[in-house]
Amino acid sequence: MSRYFVGMTGASGQIYGERLIRALVAAGHEVDLALSPAACKVLPHELGVQVGKDGSKLGACLAGWLGSEVAAHVRTFGTDAIEAPASSGTSGIKAVLICPCSMGTLARVTAGYSSNLVERAADVALKERRTLVLVPRETPLSEIHLENMLKLRRMGTVILPAMPGFYALPQSIEELVDHVVGKVLDSIGVEHEVGAHWQGMPQPSAEDPGLEL
Ligand SMILES: Cc1cc2nc3c(=O)[nH]c(=O)nc-3n(C[C@H](O)[C@H](O)[C@H](O)COP(=O)(O)O)c2cc1C
Repeated sequence: MSRYFVGMTGASGQIYGERLIRALVAAGHEVDLALSPAACKVLPHELGVQVGKDGSKLGACLAGWLGSEVAAHVRTFGTDAIEAPASSGTSGIKAVLICPCSMGTLARVTAGYSSNLVERAADVALKERRTLVLVPRETPLSEIHLENMLKLRRMGTVILPAMPGFYALPQSIEELVDHVVGKVLDSIGVEHEVGAHWQGMPQPSAEDPGLEL
C-alpha cells in the first residue's frame, strides 16, 4: 500500500480525477486529495459535487460523491492547507498526480510559485525528485503552455495530456476516460485493470475478411 497525492485543478475533465482516485483505491492505495480554488467551481459544474466555495465541504460530501468504501481511503485537505503532509518532503507520499491540470497550475508549478496545497505538493515532488505526473487539458496550446510543459518534462515530470486514444474502440465516456487514467497508473507503476490493454488488431478471418479497399 502506498499513499498518493491527487490534486484536482480548474481544468475541464474533473471525471479524470474522480476515476483516478477510484482506481488508486481499487488497487489498494491511499489517497490525499486537495482541490485548487478553481476546481471548487469546475467540479460542481461538471460532476455536480457541491464542495462549497473554497472546498470547505469536500470532506463532508466525499462519501456521497465516491461512496463510503472509496471515501474511507481518501483524506481530504483544504485548498490552502499548506500545513498538510504533502507540503513536506518528509511525508512519505509516493507520487503527486495533478489530474486534471489547468494551464494556470502548470505555469505556477513551472515557476515554483506555491500559492495553494496542490502547487506546493508539486513543488515538493520536484525538489525531492519524486514522481510528479501532470494531466493537462487545454486546446489549442499556446507557446507559453508548450514551453512550460517542456521545462517540466526536462525536470523529470511526466506530462500526460488528457488525450484519449480511439484505437480500442471505446463504447462510452468512461472507457475514453479510463484510457487516460490507465496511462497515469502505468506511469507510476500501479498494477491495474483500468482501460483496455492493446492486443493488436484482430486478424481478418475467412468469415470476416475485413474491408476490401
Ligand atoms: C467550466 C470551466 C472549464 C475550464 N476548463 C479549463 C481547461 O480545460 N483548461 C485550463 O487550463 N483552464 C480551464 N479553465 C480555466 C481555469 O479554471 C482558470 O484558468 C483557473 O484560474 C485555473 O486555476 P487553478 O490552476 O488554480 O485551478 C476552465 C474554467 C471553467 C470555469
